[in-house]
Amino acid sequence: MIQFLLNRELRTEHALDPNLTVLNYLREHVGKPGTKEGCASGDCGACTVVVGELDGERVRYRTLNSCLTFVSSLHGKQLISVEDLKHQGQLHSVQQAMVDCHGSQCGFCTPGFVMSLFALQKNRAASGSDGFDKAATMEALAGNLCRCTGYRPIIDAAEQACCQQQPDQFDAAEADTVAQLKAIAPRETAELNSGDKRCLLPLTVADLADLYAANPEARLLAGGTDLALEVTQFHRELPVMIYVGHIEAMKRVEVTDSSIEIGAATALSDCYAALAAEYPDFGELLHRFASLQIRNQGTLGGNIGNASPIGDAPPLLIALGAQIVLRKGNDTRSLALEDYFLDYKVTARQEAEFIEKIVVPRAQANQAFRAYKLSKRLDDDISAVCAAFNLIIEDGVVRSARIAFGGMAAIPKRAAACEAALQGSAWYPGVIERACAALAEDFTPLSDFRASKEYRLLTAQNLLRKFFLELQAPEVETRVTAYV
Ligand SMILES: Cc1cc2nc3c(=O)[nH]c(=O)nc-3n(C[C@H](O)[C@H](O)[C@H](O)COP(=O)(O)OP(=O)(O)OC[C@H]3O[C@@H](n4cnc5c(N)ncnc54)[C@H](O)[C@@H]3O)c2cc1C
Ligand code: FES
Ligand code: FES
Repeated sequence: MIQFLLNRELRTEHALDPNLTVLNYLREHVGKPGTKEGCASGDCGACTVVVGELDGERVRYRTLNSCLTFVSSLHGKQLISVEDLKHQGQLHSVQQAMVDCHGSQCGFCTPGFVMSLFALQKNRAASGSDGFDKAATMEALAGNLCRCTGYRPIIDAAEQACCQQQPDQFDAAEADTVAQLKAIAPRETAELNSGDKRCLLPLTVADLADLYAANPEARLLAGGTDLALEVTQFHRELPVMIYVGHIEAMKRVEVTDSSIEIGAATALSDCYAALAAEYPDFGELLHRFASLQIRNQGTLGGNIGNASPIGDAPPLLIALGAQIVLRKGNDTRSLALEDYFLDYKVTARQEAEFIEKIVVPRAQANQAFRAYKLSKRLDDDISAVCAAFNLIIEDGVVRSARIAFGGMAAIPKRAAACEAALQGSAWYPGVIERACAALAEDFTPLSDFRASKEYRLLTAQNLLRKFFLELQAPEVETRVTAYV
């Protein structure tokens, strides 16, 4: 049984198929068809809803793609869809702004934009920031596509909505909503099932370990931004899932003197502050990771767990020398992330073992860390090539080199020959050319619809040259905004 608030209404669901998405739940089970399906793959934002969660005595509102969110993950939360915004016959201020600024034509994308604007407005107010902020607006809207109106009127609507906001029905009811959310806060392992399909929702790491040991065939569900595609795109059924999103101990970020420890179930949005503070390029990469909806939902553990050769975080984490802590039953072990990936989608993870946390070393003196993502679009796109360079250079000599790439092999992988060419050498253009040549020994990339093998190798080499030039002239800002 799961419980959640559908806006202010308490819903108790005893028997729902855990493969049911929030989008289909809204449209087909509760008769709220305002939320639209555009792609069912997280790319268009038409299905955007807002989920409210307790944050002390406040409610924190975040956008999600309802097409990729299984209904089980609503347990203990508040679901707000576009139907909930109009109040006492009046459009919500974000809806009125869309009307005033002519932000809608066919209207298919509009509910998603409205929900992204609603969350933007709420989060700007919660952070004490008044008025319009272009960067925050672009970030909020990057996961919403519009093919007929164009973005200028929608950005105008964002400006109006942020500049002219008044307290709304959600503000008036916040104390009540907090009380309702506290009353339904999960207190023990819950289960949602229908027939023989089950989703288990443990609250502690120990319970997760026990449940996984008892159900080793289960699929771990974190944000579901990858897993849900098996259901929505490949029409498979997932008979048993274990949801890790209620385990607070796996959602913590702790910064110690030597490391940043990130629980595997931490949403990518929540990893941002600590990683960006220590490694600004990690922050830049997270900004360009999918869309805000996906980052609010997807986790760092899921990005490693899906073992994609083009996952964005693994090359950076490998270059930084990150370790993962794996747990099976009562046993835990630490593993260098580079040793986790064995072959295409094959990892060192044993049956019933899961990633508990990721441990990222803090920055050191004389360390130069840069990361680059090449993709066809700036936002909401997966890498063709992702490169991470982590060098310690002292007195003009490379004391240590850790370099890793995504998109260049079947797994995210270190560039061993390239590193060897740099290690112990003076830092000058000649050694860079030798290291570039060595990259051809390290990798034999494939051609696919993202990029050809020739493009991949050439750009990998050019990124090393770019890294060198940037370190030579740090005032020249050439980072990140690179396209295929
Ligand atoms: C539109 C779109 C854009 C995307 N853009 C990017 C992008 O720019 N860069 C990028 O790297 N990825 C991208 N992705 C892929 C995906 O969003 C990320 O990989 C994300 O981090 C997955 O996290 P999740 O929590 O949603 O994982 P889930 O889908 O919940 O899980 C993914 C896999 O990891 C396993 N898993 C989850 N948690 C654990 C754990 N603790 N231990 C062991 N296994 C675990 C699951 O069982 C599953 O096999 C995109 C996806 C979509 C749909
Ligand atoms: S329907 Fe396109 S992102 Fe969900
Ligand atoms: S109004 Fe038609 S896609 Fe945006």
